[in-house]
Amino acid sequence: MHTLDAPTAVRPWAAVPPLAAVLRRAAVLPLVALGVLAVACAEPSAATPHGAEPPPSVDPIAPAADTAVPPSPAPEGTFEGRTIAPTMSHLGADWLTRPERITEEDPDALHAALAVRPGQTACDVGAGNGYHTVRLARGVGPRGRVVASDLQPEMLELLRERVAAEGLTNVVPVAATDGDPGLPAGGCDLILLVDVYHELAAPEAALAAMRAALARGGRIALVEFRGEDPAVPIKPEHKMTVAQVRRELEPRGFRLAQRFDGLPWQHLLVFERAP
Ligand SMILES: C[S@@+](CC[C@H](N)C(=O)[O-])C[C@H]1O[C@@H](n2cnc3c(N)ncnc32)[C@H](O)[C@@H]1O
Repeated sequence: MHTLDAPTAVRPWAAVPPLAAVLRRAAVLPLVALGVLAVACAEPSAATPHGAEPPPSVDPIAPAADTAVPPSPAPEGTFEGRTIAPTMSHLGADWLTRPERITEEDPDALHAALAVRPGQTACDVGAGNGYHTVRLARGVGPRGRVVASDLQPEMLELLRERVAAEGLTNVVPVAATDGDPGLPAGGCDLILLVDVYHELAAPEAALAAMRAALARGGRIALVEFRGEDPAVPIKPEHKMTVAQVRRELEPRGFRLAQRFDGLPWQHLLVFERAP
């Protein structure tokens, strides 16, 4: 027998309270009513200054969606869990032409791997003072052109001086904004970003703009200091891992077409437009 432990629904007698219990409840009722009146007439408390607004938890029929916490947006200055690096100032432009760059970055090997062809349009995004612009301009030759884009007018001025000093006439400097590198729509056979992508303040918009700027069969090449390698003496937010680059580009309409691991400190990752 389990009568004492049985649930109320199977104990029909429990639904009819004994007479003594009914009398006890009747005696308590006026006290409860007085209590309710006292609460209703009381001054509003500091916790509920307007008195009339009950806390949300006392509304048992509010739909769950009303109390759901919306997902928090990504913290400002981050993208796909990565901290976006600050822009390298034009005041440090000399660092871009330091002689050690030849051994640390091997630009000849990089350009051999990129293999631009005469007549092509190469777009150098974040061109700085033109270190790679000049090499690209020689590669595409007088029938081709280089669109050299940068955020900082001072960098573009240094770039113009350099291009003029080299006697090159196939370079078009353009002013970029955070989300728009200013490239010709469908016009770039190659978009090159050397040590730039991790600095883009609005990567989502910039990636969409660069994708729209690729010519048929065009490529976008990212050169980034290797984030996986603690021996590369560069600040962490100025380095990237292959996994992180793929995490950011592949969901946005790009697929990895070529990976070159022959540079001393950097990755060269070449993407195409995904179908
Ligand atoms: C570290 S420098 C690299 C310059 C050049 N690519 C080189 O390797 O010598 C980074 C450059 O990217 C530029 N930059 C940063 N964000 C940019 C953006 N959203 N659009 C265009 N240029 C940008 C900066 O102004 C700076 O000149």
